Amino acid sequence: MQCSGATPSETIMTLHLSVRFNPMLRKTNLAVWRLWRSWKLNLHSSTVCASSGSLDKSEELSEKPPHTPVMLKEMLHYLDIQPGQVVLDMTFGGGGHTKAILNMVPEVTVLALDRDPTAISLAQQLAKEHFGRVKPLLGRFSELEALLSNMSIKPGSIDAVLLDAGCSSMQMDQAERGFALSKDGPLDMRMDGERYPDMPCAADVVNTLDQQALASILTAYGEERNARKIASAIVEARRLDPITRTHQLASVVAGSFPAGVIYARKDRLHRSSHVATKTFQALRIFVNDELNELHEGLRAAQATLRPGGRLCVLTFHSLEDRLVKRFLQGDDLSNLDQYSFSPRKQGPGKEKLVGKRESVYWLPLRKKVITPEKEDVKENPRGRSAKLRAALRR
Ligand SMILES: C[S@@+](CC[C@H](N)C(=O)[O-])C[C@H]1O[C@@H](n2cnc3c(N)ncnc32)[C@H](O)[C@@H]1O
Repeated sequence: MQCSGATPSETIMTLHLSVRFNPMLRKTNLAVWRLWRSWKLNLHSSTVCASSGSLDKSEELSEKPPHTPVMLKEMLHYLDIQPGQVVLDMTFGGGGHTKAILNMVPEVTVLALDRDPTAISLAQQLAKEHFGRVKPLLGRFSELEALLSNMSIKPGSIDAVLLDAGCSSMQMDQAERGFALSKDGPLDMRMDGERYPDMPCAADVVNTLDQQALASILTAYGEERNARKIASAIVEARRLDPITRTHQLASVVAGSFPAGVIYARKDRLHRSSHVATKTFQALRIFVNDELNELHEGLRAAQATLRPGGRLCVLTFHSLEDRLVKRFLQGDDLSNLDQYSFSPRKQGPGKEKLVGKRESVYWLPLRKKVITPEKEDVKENPRGRSAKLRAALRR
């Protein structure tokens, strides 16, 4: 019932052992990913997360705006885009930021990257409306430099780069993508499962990894205090039936808590949130390799921006923001195994934070992280945990 089809038991065994002996967050992720990537056997059409059809789903989404951009005015202020410049939107999504740039600045060209083919079909539509001003690029942050090189765009030539991390409302709103615990759908969560159908989905993770590995993922990427309890409930439940649906997973997680606490957690707006929210976040980050990708994205931004060019990065949880902060401070994150991005566990990177450091590549445009205004959060609750960092390429 898993996305990637039948698996030789030997591979599964290696996978379990590898995770068990790599307790650190990055090691866990890298070890599992290496195995996932080499695990390309027997993809069946009956898998739970099989591609759901044509690439062009933009028509289904035309009813409401696909995504309301967060901290738009702050982003535009710090990017300070001038007429005729070339901008790279690394996370096109529903196109909210790109559209605002096109409307605000004459003769600007936007290179619009996204790993999700659905987002890219929206970018293609926009490219037709703004002839020559939008260049859609389907791919991941880690593929960006190759994509730009294919277009003969030289390193160090882009004027401004924006990156709005995480997933879009458009992805969350489609039940069949399996991102949202509030909508029943296959437990998928892959942003580009259509492009990489043998990439493991969330159902593969919950049905395959052992309890300890699951708990590490929930702790590392969900900062979930009850990770072990939840991992144990998942392992118990899947003995009876594989966990293949979002609602099924939500009720397995809820079942390990007393009924009174299922909605007892509060988000930053003091709204009740389901006890499985952090589990879903952790699985999504793991499945899409989001922290490695973010690091690759920052490196690509560094390589593509011209001296004096501007970078704005919007993040939605502390794991991402910490990575961005350290990158812009000039920390060498190339050996991510040494870093723990969990707030409770600080890796060797911690000592490096002592004292004032400066990157040879980046000059912060504002020292402190920029957060949304209260009024904006009321209008667009998705921005409640948003953090914006802006820097100038030296
Ligand atoms: C928060 S949304 C962007 C929303 C957009 N700024 C807007 O205003 O509509 C993030 C988008 O980034 C894409 N994305 C996430 N990680 C990516 C990666 N590693 N490479 C390329 N695109 C990525 C997602 O598919 C998603 O569409």
